[in-house]
Amino acid sequence: MQTVEVPAHPPLTNPASADVVVIGGGIAGLSAAWELARSGRHVTVLEAGRLAAGVTGHTTGKLTALHTTVYAELRRSAGPEAARDYAHSQSAALRRVREVADTLGVDCELESRSAYTYCEEPEGVEALRAEAEAARAAGLEADFVTDTGLPFRVAGAVRVLGQAQFHPRKYLRALAEDVIAQGSEIYEHTRVVDLAEGEPCRVTTDAGVTMVARDVIVATHYPVFDRALMFTRLTPHRDLVVAGPLPADRDPDGMYITREDGKRSVRTAPYGDGRRLLIVTGEEFTPGDGGVEARYQRLSGWVRERFPGVTVTHRWAAQDNAPVDTVPLIGLFHPGSTHVYVATGFGGWGMSGGVLAGQLLRALVDGQPPAWAELYDPRRMASVARAAPSFAKTQWQVGKHFVGDRLAALPAGALSEAEGLPPGRAAVVDVRGRPCAVHRDDEGRLHAVSATCTHLGCLVAFNDAERTWECPCHGSRFGIDGEVLQGPALRPLDRPDINGAEWQWPDKP
Ligand SMILES: Cc1cc2nc3c(=O)[nH]c(=O)nc-3n(C[C@H](O)[C@H](O)[C@H](O)COP(=O)(O)OP(=O)(O)OC[C@H]3O[C@@H](n4cnc5c(N)ncnc54)[C@H](O)[C@@H]3O)c2cc1C
Ligand code: FES
Repeated sequence: MQTVEVPAHPPLTNPASADVVVIGGGIAGLSAAWELARSGRHVTVLEAGRLAAGVTGHTTGKLTALHTTVYAELRRSAGPEAARDYAHSQSAALRRVREVADTLGVDCELESRSAYTYCEEPEGVEALRAEAEAARAAGLEADFVTDTGLPFRVAGAVRVLGQAQFHPRKYLRALAEDVIAQGSEIYEHTRVVDLAEGEPCRVTTDAGVTMVARDVIVATHYPVFDRALMFTRLTPHRDLVVAGPLPADRDPDGMYITREDGKRSVRTAPYGDGRRLLIVTGEEFTPGDGGVEARYQRLSGWVRERFPGVTVTHRWAAQDNAPVDTVPLIGLFHPGSTHVYVATGFGGWGMSGGVLAGQLLRALVDGQPPAWAELYDPRRMASVARAAPSFAKTQWQVGKHFVGDRLAALPAGALSEAEGLPPGRAAVVDVRGRPCAVHRDDEGRLHAVSATCTHLGCLVAFNDAERTWECPCHGSRFGIDGEVLQGPALRPLDRPDINGAEWQWPDKP
């Protein structure tokens, strides 16, 4: 985000039409737009904020078909053919990035690296041996190793050769420029708030402008429209990332991930000056879980301990959605859809997944789906049924937040508590019978918004490091004045008038 400017595009101000409207300008939306524009379609991308500035702007950019331990899991839950289809389609996405970078002549810091899933504790070794075997059987160049480039001992690791890492914003800037060069269009600061399926389909923006198109692709990360109980099949997980330069001769020379320590992921990136930027991800949690500053401290501490001498110079956070059955949802939106598609549920692996979504959606719009399309079909229910315990857990957690937070979070006499908040602190209090999220900023100003998420009504909770309100149910995020930072919510949080002696809610909640 700091080093790469992506050229700005205007908002959509007049009614228009296109062959395909793509909602969302992250890696999934832009990859789909580019594939379709290159196949001769007139495409319009509608992006609520800026291109490649959502999750894609805060990713760690590993391009690999090794997704922690997905192959052993898939083989068990869906069979060896599903594991082979997964390996084949994800590897094809990697090849696609290389081809596209070549075709467009873009320098996107594309570097070949091996990918590793490692464990430090001997108890993890058996599962990694099984994963190495399952990944090999699925067609990847995988083996089990005990030596890695990490500067600490591991008990074992799955290694897959021939993977890559890149700078997604450099890559996507080139795709966006080429979409325009093909005669298609991109609009930013254009949030889509309504979608009517039909022939043609009709989308409406927050400025009240309508577009019609034969086909619509919903690539908004968490789908902003729910037409297939998708909200019940996706769980948001937020990750923290810290980074700092290290001498190039200490580069661990690979891309690493472990589920130990609540997840740690390691890669480096070009930094110049004889140095590389070490990038470490971890501390996965549910949005709204709180204690985020302490989690950052833990992650930075891990970097200091494992990479002595490295000082953390950058930190950021982002979240992705895990599907209940581990496979992304890419294809026709719901059983009744004929022209509306979705790409979501990348589970932390949306770089290859987003590129794959572009290829698959182009093929589906063309009416020529590849043999493996079924694996990703959002309408699948058999694998969801097999994942019943995970499905039930997702629902239980949402229900717990919907009901439990209401019972627990609202102290009486709350207004005085809100007014007494010290700078930097926040609370959810009861104001005239409605939960109110209150934060006092470092300058002493009080910010108050409704604590009821405008998506489906769960209660938001404060993130003390990012100073945002987050919804634990489906991961919507709001600024301290209620603006939507991340969906699926489409509307800002209500704001009470706090200037009089009694705080007043707006007439219509
Ligand atoms: C910390 C972290 C590290 C990661 N590292 C890796 C990695 O190394 N390798 C890997 O493969 N994956 C990784 N991932 C996962 C990957 O980054 C994501 O899966 C991927 O970026 C998701 O892309 P997307 O296009 O679906 O979403 P986004 O990039 O979020 O794009 C969605 C876009 O839709 C827009 N939008 C939302 N609502 C609307 C609306 N109503 N109207 C119009 N536009 C709208 C948003 O503004 C946004 O720009 C990581 C994820 C995290 C959180
Ligand atoms: S994100 Fe769904 S209720 Fe808040």
